Amino acid sequence: MKLGRLNHVGVATPSIEKSLELYRAMFGAEPHGAPFDLPAQGVRVCFVDTPNSQIELIEPLGESSPIVKFLDKNPLGGQHHVCFEVPDIHAAKAELEAKGARILGEPRIGAHGTPVFFVHPKDMGGVLTEIMETPRH
Ligand code: CO
Repeated sequence: MKLGRLNHVGVATPSIEKSLELYRAMFGAEPHGAPFDLPAQGVRVCFVDTPNSQIELIEPLGESSPIVKFLDKNPLGGQHHVCFEVPDIHAAKAELEAKGARILGEPRIGAHGTPVFFVHPKDMGGVLTEIMETPRH
């Protein structure tokens, strides 16, 4: 498996609006677009562009959101996951599983409209790792 580019760093936040204010005030950074709901992942999402990657701001979407527990432990929010691109999501999943990594759920459509899955942080040195199929365009 060839590790592709770092697509984004996921940052959990109790408020996307407040985080956007912070990125604007500190860095003069503007959101890539308006925040949007991603019900399949239980989060509301907004991207901030950097020249070589993106920050993915994620806010809980509902009480059963997978990031509610993270925000209980980190009330200010914080770095939540990193996301790497791969050319073929199913090949990557099979290869990582063969190496003993626990994959959290089946690949589903992520914030960039291509399939993603997550590798358990206990199998990735404590880092929740998102694997994403490279967008075609
Ligand atoms: Co992500």
